Amino acid sequence: MKQYVYIVQASLEPSKCKIGKTNDIERRLKEYNNMTGKSKENIYQYLFVCETKDMAQLENDIKKKFATLREEKSREIYFYNFSLFNDYIKFIKSHKMFVKEIFIKPDEKKHIVKIIKKTTPSLQERGLSRKDVMQKAQNIDNDEFYTRYEDVEKELSMYDKRIWKNKVIFCNCDDAVDTDNRNTSAFALYFLQNFKELGLKKLICTHYGGVVDLFNQGGVGYIFTKDGFREFKEYPKGYTGSFDAELSLKILDEEADIVCTNPPFSRAIDYWNITIKSGKKFIIISNIANPITKAFIPYFKNNQVWAGYNRVDKYLNLKRELVEASGHWYTNIPINNRPKYKQLKIIPLKEIPDKYKRYDDNKMLIVDNCYIPNDYQQPFAVSARPILNGILEKGYKIIGHNESYIPNINGKECFRRVLVQQI
Ligand SMILES: C[S@@+](CC[C@H](N)C(=O)[O-])C[C@H]1O[C@@H](n2cnc3c(N)ncnc32)[C@H](O)[C@@H]1O
Repeated sequence: MKQYVYIVQASLEPSKCKIGKTNDIERRLKEYNNMTGKSKENIYQYLFVCETKDMAQLENDIKKKFATLREEKSREIYFYNFSLFNDYIKFIKSHKMFVKEIFIKPDEKKHIVKIIKKTTPSLQERGLSRKDVMQKAQNIDNDEFYTRYEDVEKELSMYDKRIWKNKVIFCNCDDAVDTDNRNTSAFALYFLQNFKELGLKKLICTHYGGVVDLFNQGGVGYIFTKDGFREFKEYPKGYTGSFDAELSLKILDEEADIVCTNPPFSRAIDYWNITIKSGKKFIIISNIANPITKAFIPYFKNNQVWAGYNRVDKYLNLKRELVEASGHWYTNIPINNRPKYKQLKIIPLKEIPDKYKRYDDNKMLIVDNCYIPNDYQQPFAVSARPILNGILEKGYKIIGHNESYIPNINGKECFRRVLVQQI
């Protein structure tokens, strides 16, 4: 008797799929579609079927490999988004018991579900090679700019792996699911795909369902552990999924060890206040100009936050097109031997080329291009870049009344900076 392993999905449950085994794939699909208590619109469709030499072994190995992605209680329900679906298939196809993929013709009479794999492009497919659709954004105040997987991976892989071990990660602006219209959060995906390797204890993702969310799904939360996943069971009345909603704050205070996300740019001030006040570790994306922006200067000055490793210049918009905006990673996790120290040119004042040092109308020294005088005891003005490159870790401090410094030269206002001084 032939043996099959399949992945099946119900049209109304896009965040889940079932992985199972059978000797009769036609009958099994009929069984799914004839289940009592199931609505007529909720049609099951195979996403993948293969013949196998040993369906029990293959199924067991899938269970072990993707333990975090199985629903905690059910035997066969797995978390679904397109990238994870690809991971399931890759694993099955490379398994020693895999024989061949079977292509099933959809039953057209039943208006069968749209095949999600055709309508939801993978992360790689999401425009990363479509240079021609690149758009220029002047600033980073668009809340619906999504972080690319490669940017998340590039930054998070820089930290010592031990920081993640046994930790509860809270992605509080992140949707782990994807549908035609929404992007799976690259943060959620990164932690799901590296759950075991990082030794995580738990991943909690909450997703905002307020007016900003075009898809109006309501606040949704998912919890993943090594024993499986579950959706938040009960939401407090009116829960929107907002990072400042009561339940989200409770998770932040009582459960989270490390907060990791790209929060909405328009709410950055509130987000920073809440996150820093919580005392939790964080790795987040925000505007590259924060070190010279009034609301954020005190945090840099008081050493409550510093730059992460990388800047982030490209994002995906809701249409999954590549867009540009100037962001940077920020964290309160120690960064040893910051690679960007190399870009700081700390030398005697007289050796700084004239074009990079000026005095403004108040006789305040302004230095540019990451030149920093090491023999100048007075305050001087710098742009965000030396702060991002770690000047505050090199014997300099921010001074002044938590304000940006706006130089005037010959009566003309110049770009905003911040005042620093050698300690
Ligand atoms: C800059 S996007 C980044 C999304 C995702 N974290 C990522 O990195 O791809 C900010 C997200 O926060 C959501 N958002 C807006 N207001 C929010 C709030 N009050 N609480 C949580 N998320 C919010 C937006 O809908 C948007 O999806």
